[in-house]
Amino acid sequence: MFHEKLDEFPKKFLWGSASAAYQVEGAWDEDGKGESIWDRYVKIPGKTFKESTGEVAVGHYHRYKEDVALMAEAGLKAYRFSVSWSRILPTGSGDINEAGLKFYENLIDELLRHNIEPILTLYHWDLPLALQDKYGGWEDRQIIEDFVNYAEILFKHFNGKVKYWVSLNEQNVFISHGYLAASHPPNVSDMKRMYQANHNAFLANAATIKRFRELNIQGIIGPSYAYSPTYSLDSDPLNQLAAENHKVFNEYLWMDVYVKGEYPDVAVEYLKKNDLLPEITDEDLLLLTEGIPDFMGVNYYQTSTIAQNKIDGVGQGEVNYSGKKGTTEENGIPGLYKVVKNEKVEQTNWDWNIDPEGLRIGLRRIQSRYDLPILITENGLGEYDELESDGSIHDKYRIDYLRTHIIAIQEAITDGVEVLGYCTWSFTDLLSWLNGYQKRYGFVYVDRDEEDEKELKRYKKDSFYWYKEVIKSNGNNLS
Ligand code: BG6
Repeated sequence: MFHEKLDEFPKKFLWGSASAAYQVEGAWDEDGKGESIWDRYVKIPGKTFKESTGEVAVGHYHRYKEDVALMAEAGLKAYRFSVSWSRILPTGSGDINEAGLKFYENLIDELLRHNIEPILTLYHWDLPLALQDKYGGWEDRQIIEDFVNYAEILFKHFNGKVKYWVSLNEQNVFISHGYLAASHPPNVSDMKRMYQANHNAFLANAATIKRFRELNIQGIIGPSYAYSPTYSLDSDPLNQLAAENHKVFNEYLWMDVYVKGEYPDVAVEYLKKNDLLPEITDEDLLLLTEGIPDFMGVNYYQTSTIAQNKIDGVGQGEVNYSGKKGTTEENGIPGLYKVVKNEKVEQTNWDWNIDPEGLRIGLRRIQSRYDLPILITENGLGEYDELESDGSIHDKYRIDYLRTHIIAIQEAITDGVEVLGYCTWSFTDLLSWLNGYQKRYGFVYVDRDEEDEKELKRYKKDSFYWYKEVIKSNGNNLS
């Protein structure tokens, strides 16, 4: 669809940026915070790039005022951040750690003082370690009650101040990496356990949304889904069929459950036949329909190009966490599909496809299948940046990436998609879970690397000034 003229961005469009507690805060054991599963996982040798951790991260816990001042200078309308569960409840349940709650209250008040809308993510992967040790975290149904109780503390405490709530960040990522690829905690590789943990996460998500409504909390709530829309490699019917499989297992399996409260039939059949189906009761199915989100949060980075993969085909291949271009191997589920290189688009140094059109396609697909407003909760480019001797950083590649994606959003809006806002990933540089500190995403450079924390000094990149103009002009000035 080509348009003569694009629609304007809505007047109240939320131009924002996003982050997550473990990736920015540091202060991992300060002021009564309990340990999280990430605090333990990063200590396993060889699991992260150069053994990097978020123990200090970019020091946001102590520098949040400086960071919010920079956000205000950029003119941000919204800031998405996550709360670390074990700062609020050090052992996951029980007594509240008031100092932890106070930190987020201070942050939220600081944002509101600068007219920046807080978007609060309840869970961005840092489960309290105590719950993992006590009953296996997401693998036990007890997690549902514990998660709802934790969420309720935040709902009640911040009701009226926070109007946008994200329930789970990228359930599809933390479950598949945690229970299949064993590249996230709890470091498991077992499909059957993965589907049970995933089902429990769906129930926790729905129960939390249900409680949000029962408590009459102001605002809206939804999950953030890591969406990599599916392409078939070509028109070979077998590749098309593999692409259908990929859609079922990577798009519908998650978003249908969130929005329709049901698993797609083809997935259920496959899971049954392969003895992978989680325990799903009638009460579960009812709960799923009682916790339908108000919006779909979308984290978009790239598309997936799919080809057929025979029963004895490829499984888990090497993933590029080093920044050495071209080191990603083919990856797939034997008998279903494999993800292959897309020769039609450029890739980053971490082999991620640069595909703004894919974002427009993804937004269109969500709108037509689910008919929900969409909040883009993450989008951005992870790249090497060079700090010049005069303190400047010339990140034209990032500006190009963001500009083309913003145009794609405007085109999708013109096509008829309802988009509430756009949060870039990220505002300051931060820890990239498995890729250390060299894969940078921010508008603000933070001077540290894997070996040396230095002074964590902040420097504005060229993209900082560019985004400021984008926001000021409500997306009209993208040059
Ligand atoms: C998303 C996560 O998957 O992508 C973020 O929600 C993450 O936490 C971001 O940092 C970028 O991924 P990566 O692996 O490059 O840090």
